[in-house]
Amino acid sequence: MRYVQLDTPKPISKIGLGTWQFGSKEWGYGPDYERRAAEIVRRALDLGVTLFDTAELYGFGRSERILGAALGNDRSKVVVASKIFPLLPVAPVVQQRAVASAARLGVDGIDLYQVHQANPVVADTTTMRGMRSLQDVGLVGEVGVSNYGLRRWRFAEAALGRRVLSNQVRYSMIDRGPEEDLIPYAEQAGRIVIAYSPLAQGFLSGRYDATNPPAGAVRRANPYFLPENLERGTALIATLREVADAHDATPSQIALAYVLRHPNVVAIPGASGVEQMERNAAAAEIDLTDDEYAALVAAARAFRPVTGLAAVPRMVRARLGR
Ligand SMILES: NC(=O)c1ccc[n+]([C@@H]2O[C@H](COP(=O)([O-])OP(=O)(O)OC[C@H]3O[C@@H](n4cnc5c(N)ncnc54)[C@H](OP(=O)(O)O)[C@@H]3O)[C@@H](O)[C@H]2O)c1
Repeated sequence: MRYVQLDTPKPISKIGLGTWQFGSKEWGYGPDYERRAAEIVRRALDLGVTLFDTAELYGFGRSERILGAALGNDRSKVVVASKIFPLLPVAPVVQQRAVASAARLGVDGIDLYQVHQANPVVADTTTMRGMRSLQDVGLVGEVGVSNYGLRRWRFAEAALGRRVLSNQVRYSMIDRGPEEDLIPYAEQAGRIVIAYSPLAQGFLSGRYDATNPPAGAVRRANPYFLPENLERGTALIATLREVADAHDATPSQIALAYVLRHPNVVAIPGASGVEQMERNAAAAEIDLTDDEYAALVAAARAFRPVTGLAAVPRMVRARLGR
């Protein structure tokens, strides 16, 4: 495993584990998944993974419970990251919610406590007041944000009066927005971009095609899995396979290596089984050549999925099986 070269109380592994899948029916993994989830966590620990990401929203607290129980006594050795869903993120609410999350996780302190998304009405001045007091009493180690633009990230830092260590955002080969400003800022200021959906929810694994889309409500709502987009992605997946062959790796591993190339980026793929966890952890060791990276960038740029409003009628038709 490789770790971010930054001054943090505990090392942060380049590959972490995302746990939205834990306790969340919308992924369609069935009742047996709770046992597998615990195995995934234990294996991740063996492989040197130190970043475990959850949120109070995932499975309405079940993900935090499953993660905390699976980590057991190793909880204190790793970076446990959770998120507050900012419904009314005023200082006293932030404090109460952190206490509830810590209790579900079974920890004395949450190593990284993140604001799940920017609240359009409540300013970060008040949210960060709550965060600061949580840090002062030791219930929260580092503060993070999620789905923040650069301006608001920096505003949050000014409001906290301390570093907001990380911004967790969607970042993968086919969602490259963070390369414009968030990643350069992280590199210059010693911060971290946490890449969520780094496999585009499995789109980049090459496992799925127009005749074989994934099950589950989460991915039915993701336009990348429209038959038309799966079809349009064929050339991109072929390039991923080509690079993967040269490394004796899989397309998913190359997709992860792509985002991890930036020193201040870590990725938190979810996993449906232990073997995926193993492969994902191994991806941290893959170094892409400049030529391979350029080929991936070109293939990703050439991929033009149908997204946004244009995708809506197609998604309805796909749902209705037409
Ligand atoms: N902050 C936010 O707003 C936000 C939003 C979304 C996610 N997140 C966090 O980020 C984490 C990851 O994002 P995500 O789950 O949306 O997407 P992801 O990590 O891109 O995709 C995860 C899915 O990809 C497949 N997969 C994983 N490893 C694989 C491998 N080695 N080979 C082939 N397939 C593989 C698995 O599904 P199948 O095996 O079923 O194909 C798995 O469930 C979440 O768990 C959550 O913690 C945060």
